[in-house]
Amino acid sequence: DAIHLHHKHLDFNSVKELPDSHDWISLDHHDQYPFSNSCSIESSLSVPVIDLKDPNAVKLVGHACRTWGVFQVKNHGIRTSLLDDIESAGRSIFSLPIQQKLKAARPPDGVSGYGMARISSFFPKHMWSEGFTIIGSPLDHARQLWPHDYNKFCNVIEEYEKEMKQLAGKLMWLMLGSLGITKEDVMWAGPNGDFKGASAALQFNSYPACPDPDRAMGLAAHTDSTLLTILHQNNTSGLQVLRERTGWVTVPPLPGTLVVNVGDLLHILSNGLYTSVLHRAVVNRTCHRLSIAYLYGPPPNVQISPLSKLVDPSHPPLYRPITWSEYLGTKAKHFNKALSSVRLCV
Ligand code: SIN
Ligand code: FE2
Repeated sequence: DAIHLHHKHLDFNSVKELPDSHDWISLDHHDQYPFSNSCSIESSLSVPVIDLKDPNAVKLVGHACRTWGVFQVKNHGIRTSLLDDIESAGRSIFSLPIQQKLKAARPPDGVSGYGMARISSFFPKHMWSEGFTIIGSPLDHARQLWPHDYNKFCNVIEEYEKEMKQLAGKLMWLMLGSLGITKEDVMWAGPNGDFKGASAALQFNSYPACPDPDRAMGLAAHTDSTLLTILHQNNTSGLQVLRERTGWVTVPPLPGTLVVNVGDLLHILSNGLYTSVLHRAVVNRTCHRLSIAYLYGPPPNVQISPLSKLVDPSHPPLYRPITWSEYLGTKAKHFNKALSSVRLCV
């Protein structure tokens, strides 16, 4: 297998058998790494699909955030052609030869570029996926990948980031609105409440067809360390969310809809009223799956803490104030209990 590994990166196209490094079956009975593909059941429950033009959208969003921590949205205002373009942009990255992709490799202590899923280091096995992260301008990476022809890629990324930022702000107000929170309650949302200073990253995930999908893991179970995440998946299913007392529930790709996850920072902001959803991606034998996650967080130096409107003597604050980067540091130290490690009183 060593010949397939370039700097720990698997050349998926040339692998005919699942290497031991990617075989998760031996972890099946390990509590720490909830794997068991077999426990995913066909559930009659499904993740809510919310029409953002529905007059009851605020209520529906609030209910979904309390019960599931995830929902799908339609009538979100993002053009279908832009969704197609961002998908093609993702495809064009991952279809490059591995040597080319490695020219844009994420440095060991860096955050952007090509590489394995960023949560990889917390798990004893490799995942059946590749990732590409863009923060801010795509120009440097695009030049590394396509030295003579990077304009189209950059334009699509920039437009997608701009549209996602707007949609994320709108979703924030639907989610917060449902808790009775208004613009005056969130100073860092800015004077117009447009979250102008928000930080974000664009994360492309590629899951090649897998020779032994029941033993492999596309992306291991995790919660997002964001305020919220907006996910576009191609027409291949693979995303699953954990629902209490039910098990892993598949989030089916519905053309034109986007998946919205509650992240850990919104859980903190809502003083635990909203749950950040545990999710993972499984793989399959025949179809290449692609997903594009817009990871949305607060401005760099803002401390996130339970909103004061949601705190009173009978609902004391559960979490201490923390910035996005402090939270990421804490999560790297305590991956499996990230939220409890920022609790104020246990
Ligand atoms: C993610 O959790 O970042 C991606 C999940 C997916 O590929 O559906
Ligand atoms: Fe995620």
